[in-house]
Amino acid sequence: MTDVIEHAADPRLAGRQVKRIAFDASAIEARVSELGAAITAAYPDGDLLVLGLLKGSFIFLSDLVRHIHRPLQVDFLVASSYGDGTVSSGNVRLLYDPETELTGKHIVLVEDIVDSGRTLQRLVDVLRERNPRSLEICALLHKHIATELHHPTRFIGFDAPHEFLVGYGLDHAENFRHLPYVASLL
Ligand code: IMP
Ligand code: MG
Repeated sequence: MTDVIEHAADPRLAGRQVKRIAFDASAIEARVSELGAAITAAYPDGDLLVLGLLKGSFIFLSDLVRHIHRPLQVDFLVASSYGDGTVSSGNVRLLYDPETELTGKHIVLVEDIVDSGRTLQRLVDVLRERNPRSLEICALLHKHIATELHHPTRFIGFDAPHEFLVGYGLDHAENFRHLPYVASLL
């Protein structure tokens, strides 16, 4: 309840109230730094391409790459699976393909949250066809309910509560991506 009162006045929320701050800015900062170190250690050699899934990964990716202390390239993918609702529609559309060469590179696919896993499984299938040297997933949040993802998520920031979350890149109908914390809406 304290969080509701403290954040009720956050002008970024446009009058909406957050139910709970799941992960505050300092917890996120500390964990993203650890993930960067883990990724740095995992790739002692080879070309590394950090591939962000837009739009949800944009803040996470920008913080993450600054904690990866080795050469890398950045590109993005655009897929669309959700409309304005909070439930997966089941459709995944690829709207933008990375222009960077993928063949022979270590790819770390960066996602905001793994929910059903449908989006990622579809993307993993597409990316595998480009013959990368390796392909791993890095997700800020994981709900651990993914039934459709048959590829391990190698790098996970936090286990997510089974609530609809917003902030630090995650949206509800394109709102709230700019919150510096991850919260569930009231
Ligand atoms: P999946 O295909 O069901 O795993 O859904 C993945 C995508 O749905 C994520 O990249 C998010 O954009 C969106 N999504 C899933 N859960 C949430 C949530 O709790 N808050 C905001 N977006 C979510
Ligand atoms: Mg979304």
